[in-house]
Formats: sequence, C-alpha cells, structure tokens
Amino acid sequence: MRISTFFFATFIILRLCCRHSPTAQPFEPYPTANLSTTWTNDDSGLVLIRKTKVARFTCGFIGEENYPSYLFAIFISPPSEFPSQYKVVWAANRNHPVKNNATLNLTAAGELVLKDVDGSIVWTTNTAGKSVAGMNLTDAGNLVLFDDQNSVVWQSFDHPTDCLLPGQNLFQGQKLKSSVSLTNSSVHEGMYSLQVTDRGLFAYVESNPPRVYYGRLVRGGNTSKGRRYIRFINGSLSFFIHSFELSDRYDWIDIPLASSAQYMKLMPDGYLKVFELKHEVWTVVTDLTSDFLDDCSYPLTCGRNSICSTNQQCSCPGIEYFRPVNNRQPNLGCSEITPLKCNSIKDQEFIVVKNITPFAFTADMEGVNMETCKQECLNKCSCKAALFQYSSNASSGECFLPSELFTMKTAGAYQNASLFIKVQNAKSHNFATIIVASSIASFVLLLVTIGFIMYIVNKRKGEAEMEEEYFDQVPGMPTRFSYEELKIATENFSKKLGEGGFGSVFEGSLEDGSKIAVKCLEGLSHAKKSFLAEVQSIGSIHHVNLVRLRGFSTWKSQSFLVYDFMSNGSLDRWIYHGIREQILEWECRKKIILDIAKGLAYLHEDCRQKIIHLDIKPQNILLDNDLNAKVSDFGLSKLMDKNQTDVMTTIKGTPGYIAPEWWSSTITEKVDVYSFGIVLLEILCGRKIFDRSVREESWHLLFVFQKCWEDGTLLDIVDRHSEDMQAHNTEVVEMMKVASWCLQIDYTRRPSMSSVVKVLEGGMSIESNLDYNFTDPRLQRNSCQETELTPLLPSVLSGPR
Ligand SMILES: *[C@@H]1O[C@H](CO)[C@@H](O)[C@H](O)[C@H]1NC(C)=O
Ligand SMILES: *[C@@H]1O[C@H](CO)[C@@H](O)[C@H](O)[C@H]1NC(C)=O
Ligand SMILES: *[C@@H]1O[C@H](CO)[C@@H](O)[C@H](O)[C@H]1NC(C)=O
Ligand SMILES: *[C@@H]1O[C@H](CO)[C@@H](O)[C@H](O)[C@H]1NC(C)=O
Ligand SMILES: *[C@@H]1O[C@H](CO)[C@@H](O)[C@H](O)[C@H]1NC(C)=O
Ligand SMILES: *[C@@H]1O[C@H](CO)[C@@H](O)[C@H](O)[C@H]1NC(C)=O
Ligand SMILES: *[C@@H]1O[C@H](CO)[C@@H](O)[C@H](O)[C@H]1NC(C)=O
Ligand SMILES: *[C@@H]1O[C@H](CO)[C@@H](O)[C@H](O)[C@H]1NC(C)=O
Ligand SMILES: *[C@@H]1O[C@H](CO)[C@@H](O)[C@H](O)[C@H]1NC(C)=O
Repeated sequence: MRISTFFFATFIILRLCCRHSPTAQPFEPYPTANLSTTWTNDDSGLVLIRKTKVARFTCGFIGEENYPSYLFAIFISPPSEFPSQYKVVWAANRNHPVKNNATLNLTAAGELVLKDVDGSIVWTTNTAGKSVAGMNLTDAGNLVLFDDQNSVVWQSFDHPTDCLLPGQNLFQGQKLKSSVSLTNSSVHEGMYSLQVTDRGLFAYVESNPPRVYYGRLVRGGNTSKGRRYIRFINGSLSFFIHSFELSDRYDWIDIPLASSAQYMKLMPDGYLKVFELKHEVWTVVTDLTSDFLDDCSYPLTCGRNSICSTNQQCSCPGIEYFRPVNNRQPNLGCSEITPLKCNSIKDQEFIVVKNITPFAFTADMEGVNMETCKQECLNKCSCKAALFQYSSNASSGECFLPSELFTMKTAGAYQNASLFIKVQNAKSHNFATIIVASSIASFVLLLVTIGFIMYIVNKRKGEAEMEEEYFDQVPGMPTRFSYEELKIATENFSKKLGEGGFGSVFEGSLEDGSKIAVKCLEGLSHAKKSFLAEVQSIGSIHHVNLVRLRGFSTWKSQSFLVYDFMSNGSLDRWIYHGIREQILEWECRKKIILDIAKGLAYLHEDCRQKIIHLDIKPQNILLDNDLNAKVSDFGLSKLMDKNQTDVMTTIKGTPGYIAPEWWSSTITEKVDVYSFGIVLLEILCGRKIFDRSVREESWHLLFVFQKCWEDGTLLDIVDRHSEDMQAHNTEVVEMMKVASWCLQIDYTRRPSMSSVVKVLEGGMSIESNLDYNFTDPRLQRNSCQETELTPLLPSVLSGPR
C-alpha cells in the first residue's frame, strides 16, 4: 500500500509502511538508527519516524506518482497519519531527485550518504571520521547525527530548505530558499530567499543583483561579538545576537501562540506563512510578509513585465509591444513581442506608464531630469526601463535603470513617478550596418566612461570607512557625506536654524547650489550600525509631502542627517497669533492640511515598512518656497529609540499633541491621527493648544473646543486675526468636524489618515455619531502639569528630551 499525498498540488507518493501483503505486521520504524544501516528507496521509502503529542515527523523518500523521481526528506503530519496532510519541511536533494532503488547509507565511518541507483553520490553529510555514533530524528523534527557524548555533529536544522520548525534557528549566512511553484510539480529551488543580515531580516528576489522586497530592520547590539540569528519559537519569530537567552532577544515578530504543531514556510510566491494543524488540517495562521506588503508588492504577483493594480488585476504595459505569456492566466506575466536587440538602438523607443512604484527602488542617478534618465537607459544595453521620479523639481529627480522588470505596482497620485519601458520597434532598418558600426563606437566610448566613473567611485569608496560595505545592495540608500564636506557646506556650522528635539539644525548649501539643512545628533556612536540601518530605511522614503533625507554623515560621536532645506521654516511660525510672519488665507491653510494628511497617509499606509511618526506638531511640519507642507523628522523616534523592546519608556511625545492612550494601551498609527487633529485645530483657530495669554479657563484649546461643541458656538473659535478665515467660517467649522473625528478618545474610532485625505478631497463623508468629549482626565493631568512647570515658548514645548 502506498499513501499518496497532495504535495505541490500534484499526486506525490509517500512511500510508507507495509510491504505488499496486507496481512503482514505493520513495520514500526525507529526514531533513531545505528551506524552501518542502509535503506533502499523501494516500496517502503521509510527511514525514521518520531511521534510527539502534537505531530508525527517522518524521514524518508517522497516522490511524484507518475514520475520516478524522489527526495530524501523530512515531513510533518498529524499524529493520526492523515494522508493528504504530509508536508515536506526539509529535503536533502531538492535539486537532484533520485530514482527507484536509490540508497541511503549511514556508513560505519559515520557519514550519511545518498546514492542514486547508478551508484553516483547525490548528497552526503560529509561527516566521515567525526566520530558519529548514530542518527536521531528528534521531537522537534531535527535529523541529528550525534557522537558518543550525545553532542550534535550534523543536523538538518543547520541546512534549512524553505521551512523553519519551532525551535529552529536561521543564522546569518544561512538562507531559506523557496521552492518553485505551487502548480509546478518539479521541486526545484525558486526565486526567493530569506536571510538574516547585520541589519535585520530580509527577503530577496533572485536577480542580478538580488533585490530586497521585504525588510525588517533590527537595531542595537554590537554585531562584531557574534552572529545574528532568528529563532522560530512558540509565539514569535525572535531576533538574537550571539546570545541564546530568550530574555536577550532584540526584537520579534508576533506569531499566534501554537495550540498544536506549526511550521513556517517561504512560499513559492514569496510570502512567509505560518501553518498550524487545526482539526488535522494545515491552516495558515499568519503571513509575516503581508504585514508590510500588499498583494501587488511581491516581485512576481503578476509575473514579469506586468502591471498590478488594486484587486490584483494584472495587465501588460502596452498591447503593441507586450503580450500575456498565457491569455488565460494574466498573472504569469507579459513577454516582449519583439525582443530588445542591443545592436539596433535606433529602433528602440519608450512606452510610458504613469504613477508606478517598483517593489524596490535603487536610484542609479540623482539630480537628473527625465530626458537624461531615458537617454541613459537607451545607452545601456541591459537596461529594460527607466524609472524617473521627483518630488517638486522636475529637473532634479531620481533615475532607476533596472535590468529586469518584475511586477510593477500602480501607486496613487502620491508620487510624480513615471516608468519608461524600453521597447523594440518591429520595422526593419536599412541603415542597420551603419548603426551597428556607430553604436559599437559609442558603446566603446560609454565603456571607457563607465570605467572611469567606476574608478572614481571605487577610489572614493576605498577612502570611506568600513561601514560603507554595509550599503551594498540596499535600495534607496541616501548619500554619505564626509564631515569635511558638511563643514564646508555649513560654513563650519555657523548658521544655526534652530534646536529641535533631536539636536541642533544648521543651514548649508552644497556645491551644486542646492540648500540643505543639517541636523546634528549627539551621542549615537555606540549604535552606529543601527543608525546606518535606520538612515537607510528613512532615506528610501520619498514623497512630495515628506522632507527628503538627502544624506548623512558620521564623525566621532556625532551623526548628521542632511535634509532638503525648506525656505519657509516650520508651520508654528505661520499659524500662531503673535509670532506668525504673515497671515495665511483659508485656501492656503486647506492645502497645508491636505499636504500633512497625505504625508502621514504615506508613512502609515504606503511605505514598505509602516512608520509611525510619534511626534506630529507644527514644529515638525516644514514649508517650502511655495508653501507646500512637508512632514519632517519621521523615523527619528525609531532612530533614537535604542532600547527597542520597550517603546514606552524611551519615546516621549510632545505634551499637548500626545494621544490619551499613550500611557495605557499599545501605540498604533492612530496616535499620529490624534496629533494631526490637534495641529488641525491649531491651524483653524490660529492659536496654540496651550495659551496662557488668555483667560485661565481657555488655556487648553481642547476644553474650549469641547465647550463650543456643547454650546453650538464653534464659529467663535475660528481664527479671528484673519478676515479671510472669518469669511469662510462655515467651511472652517466643517473642517472642525474632521478634527473632532481625529480627536476621538477611543483610538479605534479615529479615521485612518487615508480616510482623512479622502474626506478632505471630498470623496468621503465624516462618520456621524462622534464622541464630543475630548478631555480625557489623564490627558489633562499630564499635559497641564507640564505647561505649569515651563514657560510657554514653542521651543520648550518641543524641546530636547
Ligand atoms: C542500536 O544498537 C544497540 C546496541 O548496540 C541496540 O540496542 C539498538 O536497538 C540499536 N538500535 C537500532 C535502531 O537498531
Ligand atoms: C529495484 O530493485 C529490485 C530488486 O532489487 C528490482 O526488482 C527492481 O526492478 C528495481 N527497480 C528499478 C526501477 O530498478
Ligand atoms: C554502505 O556503506 C558501507 C561502508 O560504510 C558499505 O560497505 C556498504 O556496501 C554500503 N551499502 C550500500 C548499500 O551501498
Ligand atoms: C533523540 O532525541 C530525543 C529528543 O527529541 C532525545 O530525547 C533522545 O535522547 C535522543 N536519542 C538519542 C539516542 O540521542
Ligand atoms: C516547472 O518548472 C520547470 C523549471 O522552472 C520548468 O522547466 C517546467 O517547464 C515547469 N513545468 C510546468 C508544467 O510549468
Ligand atoms: C505555546 O504557548 C502557549 C502559551 O504559553 C501554550 O498554551 C501552548 O501549549 C504552547 N504550544 C505548544 C505547541 O507548545
Ligand atoms: C531644479 O533643479 C535644477 C537642477 O538641480 C536647478 O538648476 C534648478 O534651479 C531647480 N529649480 C528649482 C525651482 O528649484
Ligand atoms: C508633481 O509635480 C508637480 C510639479 O511639477 C507638482 O505641482 C505636483 O504637486 C506633483 N504631484 C505630486 C502628486 O507629487
Ligand atoms: C564592539 O565590540 C568590540 C569588542 O568586543 C569593540 O572593539 C568595538 O569597538 C565595539 N563596537 C561598537 C560599535 O561598539
């Protein structure tokens, strides 16, 4: 009898138990084996079995029904042997299946050798002479070769394939590699890998170079002391550095507590799923990558050269140039109708796709315009497309020239990003030979140029510090400036713009004339690597309503962040009566409010890693030359938060802007929504949240606001210093409802920032049934205490913490 199982959606034979005679005693295999034992891949492909309370682990041969090729593997199944529920969690020979009658030999020398039927060695543990005493399939599903002292000489846990079992570690240097496809029966290694690096946990797609599509950064620790690793344990995927103590873990990703057996698998489509046995059936309990990625953000959701729009609709970029690989399965991607030819550049042109985000953006060129970007792609044979994006100045954008096009994701109108896909015109050309000659000439010239540039780049790189290596392959890394460059740019840090919560800010200008703001952070040296990791993460975030991080620098114990300079300073200079430079009109305030909302919505919902700002206040909203509002200092709370395991003790928001749940429950992005509500109220009323220049009962704007709701006198609090605001007072009151919605004490009742954007743009209405009690007793206590102790300068309210 053979037990068949659905494995990779096709019939697979698990060669198990019982010789042909049904009356024979069922052969009960052992969980351990002695040296000099040989197993043959015949009707019983069984090697070892270990039963535990929650699962049964089997070690043996597994193969397809009509195709005589087998893997030596470990499978996990319910204790009751439910045939269709055998799942392979480890395999020795994924790339080299063996045939019938292949042998597995635990030799007298202590080596486990897999030989195909023709005698060729397919796989071995290479442990001969290492005093192996026997083999054990443990309770955890780990195949172990142990010695006389019972210590591990070799174990399958050290050679993971695409799964992790509870208790298993994945060390830096090891990787999980996905199998090929759910619908493809051949069991080859696939496109994706999961690895632990100095910076955290990353998933890559195979390409040249491999590109990150999922990243979880881990901060802290001195990495020179030991390898980093993750361990899959009951309840979490935990990050460790060197130590094996659970209490020493640096970070973790929650996983539902196991009520039965679990395993984690890097799926053929790039998802990282955790399965659990529920009523003898394997059920997905969580998907770790999809916390950060939507379905369109996986490299091959729609296959190659294909566009993924919401609801996972796949389409080809241009029907004249691309066709679906399979008309009935649009998710298999698109192929070029006429392949690109390097020697006929003259016949190449671009088709354009607007509002696109690639799953990983690596700026190959910066500060260029669209034409330069496109031309560079035409000049480069391997270039498949030119992706150009900019925030406000179209002649100073970023250019990305990928050599492979994976699934492209349509973005909202948040970015000025255009993708130019290179295509080959089919029409033949008479001047082909001339072109070949001239293009060879220009190609040679190009090579010389590239060679020269690379020489310069390498030279500079060599001079930089060791950590430079750190950034190889990381998408969107901002520029690293030398300390000398910054000293010159800021005229020896002479023009101080202000003192923020994280350190001083200086004005400067770069050689190309662009103005910068340099933020100087003190005392981060011991966390240098984490600083770099965080900078990389912040630097890869680009949005028109976020202040762009252009670069960074480290020098002795100081770290510097280099931002675009915002000529109109921070919002607090514009909205408070008394210190405002010029009174803003209603239309302008509306635009600023929408800008802030869009910036926050992007941080919360469209970034690869959700970012909670934690310190939204007018001092952190900057205005550029045209009064476009941009959120600044995002990601810094994370950067400064060295003790990552205890968010609450290390992050202090600014009194007045802090959501009431701050001291009690978990921090979600809704704390930013609350702070946004306060800022909104300040903009509408033209005053600070605390203002002791007014009557005592009006010190706290929220009390005033609540009272006005109760009395129906909201018109009274519209900014009185602006005639334009008074003229639009009904609209302003309408906007106060948005503020009320954002200021709900129960954070679950606050809207998401994208809903706020929709409301502001008129595409959605405000939820009715709001709670107009805004004054939480706790809020009152904490915030008012603070104001009584300090003079009421805005710089103090936002002062150093
Ligand atoms: C291994 O050998 C020992 C004696 O040396 C014997 O007791 C034991 O049953 C053997 N185990 C297996 C699985 O054959
Ligand atoms: C496997 O070996 C058995 C006996 O040793 C033989 O009868 C059978 O034909 C072999 N099968 C294959 C596919 O070589
Ligand atoms: C297993 O290995 C031993 C040497 O350790 C060898 O003598 C024996 O013939 C091998 N068995 C098979 C079936 O290859
Ligand atoms: C095999 O592993 C189990 C734990 O899974 C352990 O209890 C047992 O002692 C091990 N046996 C040998 C022979 O090492
Ligand atoms: C399965 O994948 C292999 C390797 O990628 C490929 O050669 C084969 O054509 C695929 N088979 C099917 C049925 O898609
Ligand atoms: C996981 O932990 C929970 C809570 O500590 C416990 O109830 C459960 O039995 C554990 N699961 C396994 C498979 O050990
Ligand atoms: C846009 O960028 C270009 C190139 O960096 C620069 O010359 C130009 O002055 C910029 N324009 C504006 C409006 O900032
Ligand atoms: C795109 O750029 C233009 C300036 O060229 C700017 O007015 C517009 O706001 C930008 N749009 C977005 C969504 O960034
Ligand atoms: C890490 O530890 C080593 C010694 O264990 C020390 O030399 C090095 O300076 C430390 N690095 C940092 C960044 O603290």
